[in-house]
Amino acid sequence: EEVSQFQADFLAWYDQHQRDLPWRRRQDPYAIWVSEIMLQQTQVKTVIPYFNRFMSWFEEVSDLAEAPEEKLLKAWEGLGYYSRVRNMQVAAKQIMTEFSGEMPTDIKDIQSLKGIGPYTSGAIASIAFNQPEPAVDGNVMRVFSRLFKITEDISKPATRHVFEGVVRQVISQKDPSSFNQAIMDLGASICTPTKPVCEACPLSAYCEAFKEGNMTDYPVKLGK
Ligand code: ADE
Repeated sequence: EEVSQFQADFLAWYDQHQRDLPWRRRQDPYAIWVSEIMLQQTQVKTVIPYFNRFMSWFEEVSDLAEAPEEKLLKAWEGLGYYSRVRNMQVAAKQIMTEFSGEMPTDIKDIQSLKGIGPYTSGAIASIAFNQPEPAVDGNVMRVFSRLFKITEDISKPATRHVFEGVVRQVISQKDPSSFNQAIMDLGASICTPTKPVCEACPLSAYCEAFKEGNMTDYPVKLGK
């Protein structure tokens, strides 16, 4: 039916067009976690060298848990929002004491870690553990608001749940990891904020905003 064709088209596109990024060459949840925290307020291009250095300085969760503050802050210098890395060290200590040094697989446990909210827990659960969990950020809301003409105000915190519900209805059960990362790549390269390249989009046949030609009316952002 239509959803499975949609998923097949999207995954085939991702298979052909995915970006080669250092965290995509690894499957360990620790690396995925580090990359997702860095990517929260920083562009992919900037993150790449920071990610590589961080992973060489702190190879495992235990290295992060035990890192001297000076080295930790040095690893983050230039990225900003230092609370991100301070929270990561708190979470690394949680993982050592409460989860025997392994990132937990249950999404509720992942969310119990300092600094890990709904987006990051969904990203770790789906990318590292291949669980069909949504990972809704601004890119996902832009892509999905256009696909399904979702008019909820994305500046309202409660709107995230609307998008999580929609993602749950269409996410690939077989390859949720690729599905979520395909959304990220589509949002970065094709379904961009001001000039979406719909001619190159693998989902244009399914896109309700494209059918109406008013892609840039979405997402709706009224502000607080
Ligand atoms: N933005 C947020 N997470 C990402 C990821 N895993 N790959 C590429 N871009 C991202």
